[in-house]
Amino acid sequence: MSSIESIMTENRVFEPSEAFKAQANIKGMEGYQALCGQAEKDYEGFWAGLAKELLVWKKPFTKVLDESNAPFYKWFDDGELNVSYNCLDKHLATQPDKTAIIFEADDGKVTRITYKELYHRVCEFANALRALGAKKGDRIIIYLPMSIEAAVAMQACARIGAIHSVVFGGFSAKSLHERITDASAKMVITADGQFRGGKAMPLKHAVDDALAMGGCDCVEKVVVYRRTGGEAAWDAGRDVWWHDAVKGQADTCEPEWVGAEHPLFILYTSGSTGKPKGVQHASGGFLLHAIATMRWTFDYKDSDVFWCTADVGWITGHTYVAYGPLAVGATEIMFEGVPTYPDAGRFWRMIQDHKVTTFYTAPTAIRSLIKLGGDLPKQYDLTSLRLLGTVGEPINPEAWMWYYNTVGQTRCPIVDTWWQTETGGHMITPLPGVHGLKPGSCTMPLPGVMAAIVDEAGHDAEKGKGGFLVIKRPWPSMIRTIYGDPERYKKNYYPEDLGGKYYLAGDGANRDLDGYFWIMGRIDDVLNVSGHRLGTMEIESALVANPLVAEAAVVGKPHDIKGEAVVAYVVLKGHRPEGDAAKKIVADLREWVGKEIGPIAKPDEIRFGDNLPKTRSGKIMRRLLRALAKGEEITQDVSTLENPAILEQLKEVVK
Ligand code: PRX
Repeated sequence: MSSIESIMTENRVFEPSEAFKAQANIKGMEGYQALCGQAEKDYEGFWAGLAKELLVWKKPFTKVLDESNAPFYKWFDDGELNVSYNCLDKHLATQPDKTAIIFEADDGKVTRITYKELYHRVCEFANALRALGAKKGDRIIIYLPMSIEAAVAMQACARIGAIHSVVFGGFSAKSLHERITDASAKMVITADGQFRGGKAMPLKHAVDDALAMGGCDCVEKVVVYRRTGGEAAWDAGRDVWWHDAVKGQADTCEPEWVGAEHPLFILYTSGSTGKPKGVQHASGGFLLHAIATMRWTFDYKDSDVFWCTADVGWITGHTYVAYGPLAVGATEIMFEGVPTYPDAGRFWRMIQDHKVTTFYTAPTAIRSLIKLGGDLPKQYDLTSLRLLGTVGEPINPEAWMWYYNTVGQTRCPIVDTWWQTETGGHMITPLPGVHGLKPGSCTMPLPGVMAAIVDEAGHDAEKGKGGFLVIKRPWPSMIRTIYGDPERYKKNYYPEDLGGKYYLAGDGANRDLDGYFWIMGRIDDVLNVSGHRLGTMEIESALVANPLVAEAAVVGKPHDIKGEAVVAYVVLKGHRPEGDAAKKIVADLREWVGKEIGPIAKPDEIRFGDNLPKTRSGKIMRRLLRALAKGEEITQDVSTLENPAILEQLKEVVK
């Protein structure tokens, strides 16, 4: 704990304007405190009230929270609903012709789809999935680029009660294979290829490679959306084109009414140990939180044009692209390309063209756009914007100020939203009409979110002192289990050290004297690279799987744009390489990790040693490795080190 120190040097506070407050869904501190008060007085009643108000139930629930098998909590268990019905059918009577999705392709081509059209497309595809043999409870892997089809595929799964597991298109065949087998998926939905930054890249081949790796007999069908028209290998018994699958299908489809606890999706994410965890979410609670936070955090209004830039392969793209915006009936943007193509003004031009009101992105994107063209936003008309948001990592105050001044023109509150794959939706975040903003702080918990900071024994930390971030009470959109591994769920998130009663987020945090939360970063061996979670163990396992490598240790080091960079210390089976030989091996190992996990996990730096620094009991001295990575003077005691001479070797970065 001693390493969690206060970084709270920021004392500027940016209050919401009176004009914003006046129109906000939650008005001022009084409005916020009233909701918090309700939740404190009657926790279950608070959530039950929202669930009745915000969700359409086929069969109303009578039970709210079931804690009898803690920490396997259940919410609204005897209620029945369908998530896709709540996102689409619900709007048919009131706003069938409102644009649901504005899709902008990599090349700039814009496609608009109304709620009614989206409803029919989802129904057609849901019928196609059923015709191909999919049914309630089946797991379906979705490996698609950002596209209307990705949203359709997710909604169609929800419609028939199938459980989707979206795999980010940047993951390798190996990672895809791991997820397909862990989930015992019955189908894979993919595309022939994808466009990014002006280039067409193949995608389906990764599915073919994954399925050829063995252990995938569970997969019966691969549905392929034709996007690039590039060449794709074909297995006639298994593969079917999307456009063929929907041919002749009815454009209405009776939804599968499911219990509120029926799993909506599994999403794999990294932990500190072992293989990625399949975070399982439930239907009712997840959607409730998505809708509530669209209203609270994003202050959603019918006139908004909402843009969350996250890929649907991540949780942010689940809650705030595929479900939340549709459930509230928003017009939202989906973008296929990258923020730097054709130039670093792409986001700003898109905000101007589509009159975006609410823009939600990651600090890493903000930092890279500052670097590539800090003045570019000034060339565009960004007056449509009324609210900005960030997610994924702490935002440094400089980037915050730029976002506030240059993008938001000091008019737009910034909601710095702290949450996780496991939490399903925002947890600690400013409400734009309520909280004074402190750059770098995610401010305060949402009403009904019992966030706290505790010490190792689970006791509340003193104000101003750092500790572990926990959530003291279960909440509707929380992770239900790790798919196939309930023990790991329990051990990971409800550890006995804390008495087994609090949800342990895995982040260190601090609370200042005003009660504002400041996230200090992970307390475990999880890295946050460009807002992506990577387990150091995963990268180490990938490196060690290379025939040249005997041992590897991976740590993070601060990086201006990415937040954290991956530094790998590697011991080869042969001699420690030097010169061109070392360069060649570095290139090969980076490529290797790209293939094992995906390009996002490629080490930024590789350093070779004859050994790794270990204590006499054989433990790798990670703290020392982190200090070396940062180029810090070594002040810690190295007397227990088995071979102090290797420290010099490990300072050398192969360039
Ligand atoms: O360390 C926290 C960081 O991202 C982690 C969750 O990563 P993931 O499950 O991939 O979800 C990211 C998108 C919700 C957290 O444990 N994190 C997320 N948001 C913030 C953050 N750190 C600081 N401030 C945030 N706003």
